[in-house]
Amino acid sequence: MNLTIRHELFEQTKMWIREAGILIKEKLNEPLLVNTKSSKNDLVTEIDKSIEAFFVKKITETYPNDVILSEESLNDTLIDNKGVTWIIDPIDGTMNLVHQQSDFAISVGIYDSGVGEIGFIYDVMNDQLYSAVRGKGAFKNNVQMKKLDEHLTLDKSLLCVNPRWLCKQKFFDKNGLRKMISSVHGIRYYGAATLQIAYVAEGKLGAYLSMSLEPWDYAAGKIILQEVGGVISKVDGTPINSLVKESCIVCHPQIHQELVKLLNSHI
Ligand code: IPD
Ligand code: CA
Ligand code: CA
Repeated sequence: MNLTIRHELFEQTKMWIREAGILIKEKLNEPLLVNTKSSKNDLVTEIDKSIEAFFVKKITETYPNDVILSEESLNDTLIDNKGVTWIIDPIDGTMNLVHQQSDFAISVGIYDSGVGEIGFIYDVMNDQLYSAVRGKGAFKNNVQMKKLDEHLTLDKSLLCVNPRWLCKQKFFDKNGLRKMISSVHGIRYYGAATLQIAYVAEGKLGAYLSMSLEPWDYAAGKIILQEVGGVISKVDGTPINSLVKESCIVCHPQIHQELVKLLNSHI
C-alpha cells in the first residue's frame, strides 16, 4: 500500500471514527438495550451493533473489495492475506459502557496482505484518539507519542491483568505468577483491552497480559505499539504473526524477556 493511499485511508477512517463517537454519545442519552452472549459477563448492546453497522456500511460503499472482520457479525470472515482487511471492535469495553458510560473505545486496524498499515483506538468519552500509520509514528490526538526507549525494570512497572484471570486456581497457585505479581510496582485493570494496549504504548503501563485476546482486541493496538517500539507476543514469547485469538503479552521492550521467563516458569 503506497503512502498516498495510506494517507487517504487514514483521513477517511479518522472522520468515520469521530462521526461514530458522536453517534455513541447521542445513543447514550437513550435507554440502553443490553444482551448477553457467551456468558452473563459477555455483554452486547444496541450501540455495539449499530456502530458496527455504521462502519460496515461506510466501508462496503467506499471500498467494496475490502474484507471486514468485526466482532458482532462478521467474525467468521477469513482474512484475505492478499487484500485489505479491516479489523473492527465497534465497542471495546462494553461492560464499562453499560456500567460507567465511559472508558470504552472504538478500535479499527487496517491490514494489507497481513501487514498492519493503520491503527486507531478512540477513547470516546475522554476524546483521546490514538493512531498510527506504519513507519510514520504513533499519535495521541495531534501529539506524537514518545518511543519506549527509557530504561525500565519490572520492579518499577505497573502490570495490567484481569483479576478474574488471576483468580483462576490453576494459575493462582503457581509460583511464577505469585513472583511476577510481587515483583512489580503495582497491578491495574481498566476493562478495555484496546485502551490497555494504548496505555502500554504511551508508557502509563509497563505491560498488559491476557490469556485470550481476539484479533479485534489487539489488531489496531499492535500497529500503534510497534510504532513506539513496544512489544507484543504470545505468552510463550513467540511472535504473533497471524490475526487469530491469542494469548498476549503487550509490553515495554525492556521487561519483555523477564516477563516471559516468569510466566513460563509456571504455565
Ligand atoms: C473485552 C474487553 C475486556 C477484555 C476481554 C475483551 P469487549 O472486549 O476488552 O477488557 O478482558 O478479553 O473481550 O467484549 O468489551 O469488546
Ligand atoms: Ca473487545
Ligand atoms: Ca466489543
